[in-house]
Amino acid sequence: MKKIKVLAFAGSLRKDSYNRALINTAKEVSPENMEVEIFDLAGIPLYNQDDELQVPERVKLFRQKISEADAILIATPEYNRSIPGVLKNAIDWASRPSGRNSFNDKAVATIGATGGSIVGTSAAQLHLRQIFSFLNMHPLEGLPLYVSGAEEKIRSGRVVDEETRERIRALVEALGKWAVRLGAGQQG
Ligand SMILES: Cc1cc2nc3c(=O)[nH]c(=O)nc-3n(C[C@H](O)[C@H](O)[C@H](O)COP(=O)(O)O)c2cc1C
Repeated sequence: MKKIKVLAFAGSLRKDSYNRALINTAKEVSPENMEVEIFDLAGIPLYNQDDELQVPERVKLFRQKISEADAILIATPEYNRSIPGVLKNAIDWASRPSGRNSFNDKAVATIGATGGSIVGTSAAQLHLRQIFSFLNMHPLEGLPLYVSGAEEKIRSGRVVDEETRERIRALVEALGKWAVRLGAGQQG
């Protein structure tokens, strides 16, 4: 049976990013019938509408990977109660040119991690939902995953806390089922 393809990316370029660790872990714990591919947003230049028709190679690849995926998984830090510019910039590239939005009709789920005890990333994940609505994406709801105290739960680029790993596994599995409900695997 064809595997459900998930494209995962993190809105942080930091070497020891907690959010990248979340998607590394999503890949590790994903069920047998799913395949999680990680895309690094490093190398995506700043969006400029003048360059929209001479698309940079890294952006072309990003768009292609999005188009091939059945679902998208975004791990975002929260910056100033919103999403980081790195993430917004990548989303803007993939949504253009007008009428060729790569994200159109995709299932999507969000996760996020922060250090300390605040419920980090909930505002950022909410801002993403506003973007999803405009891009005609379909967010998975009901399994909020806001990881705080990340310095205790993440080591060497992966989540070591068992409860958090289980929550990530459940979210990835639910995203796969959501993508199937939305029609993934029905053609080809
Ligand atoms: C510019 C900037 C703004 C930030 N604003 C917030 C914020 O509004 N809310 C929050 O919970 N954390 C905030 N933080 C803390 C980040 O969430 C934290 O550094 C997180 O670990 C970054 O994710 P990463 O580990 O994946 O790089 C901010 C950090 C930076 C660098």
